[in-house]
Amino acid sequence: MRLDAYLGPEGPTLVVHAPAKLNLFLEVLGRRGDGFHELETLMVTVSLHDTLRFTEEPTPAIRLRCHGRGDLSEVPSGDDNLVVRAARLLQEHTGTSRGARIDLWKRIPVAAGLAGGSTDAATTLVALDRLWELDLAPEELSSLAARLGSDVAFFVSGVPAAICRGRGEEIHPVRLPLGLPVVIARPSGGLSTAEVFRHCQLAASPRSVQPLIDALATGRIAAASRLLHNSLQPTAEALKPEIQQLITHLSHQPLLQPLMTGSGTACFGLCVSHRLAHRTARRLRGQGLAHVVAGRLGT
Ligand code: C5P
Repeated sequence: MRLDAYLGPEGPTLVVHAPAKLNLFLEVLGRRGDGFHELETLMVTVSLHDTLRFTEEPTPAIRLRCHGRGDLSEVPSGDDNLVVRAARLLQEHTGTSRGARIDLWKRIPVAAGLAGGSTDAATTLVALDRLWELDLAPEELSSLAARLGSDVAFFVSGVPAAICRGRGEEIHPVRLPLGLPVVIARPSGGLSTAEVFRHCQLAASPRSVQPLIDALATGRIAAASRLLHNSLQPTAEALKPEIQQLITHLSHQPLLQPLMTGSGTACFGLCVSHRLAHRTARRLRGQGLAHVVAGRLGT
């Protein structure tokens, strides 16, 4: 995670880009007693990102302002926002009386399986740890992250790619060639993660992520694209048929094996070149798809 620090008119300020993630592989292995599901998933950051600016407040208050071009009504404001919850958790855990003003420029769609809220929360933990000079150990930050959400620890780790196990908070970094072009699209509206998990089917004979990692690591992108897998996709498609329509639409584009990410509703397809990815995204927007971006894996 790159933190740009400068001394602004209101004191020390940090600006950080918070990347979205894609699940290139997601297998649900079992239901747990705590209401969560045991997973094996390959998470990779992407160039699509939110931007956050942190400035110290003279009081312990946490003030969040959201900015963005689109409809911000879907972004939880106030105390529901994971950014505010992350800042308060850090205050509680350390007993600090320092506060912050946080500006959030939102680009990652909400409830889309891209972990927009989780990446913002992780960025808040890491940035405020620095701004407030708390110097928490990485394990301490990871355990606070896991209290905020299953995906948050991945972003706190700062690695661009990892196999995540447990409920998603056990991070095993993997080295993959990054920079692969990708097109990400989303139907209008999102899905609740909890609802998708509530209806999901457990894999009778779970697949392993290793063949995909081997294919990616050796640059066999076409073979890798055939190993992309998300066992939440059939459930999400049943709850929101627009996902299946979007996958069909994407499969008629020059994209390799489109897949849904996380619990949906966003879908993505790897592409052989950045120029083709941008051209495909432009064509899809021209065909009336409102939410399409071209980007790259890794940040
Ligand atoms: O951890 P997070 O807040 O992202 O999870 C949202 C909901 O998704 C959880 O309350 C749970 O219902 C479901 N979930 C799950 N198994 C996971 C992750 C999330 O059942 N591994």
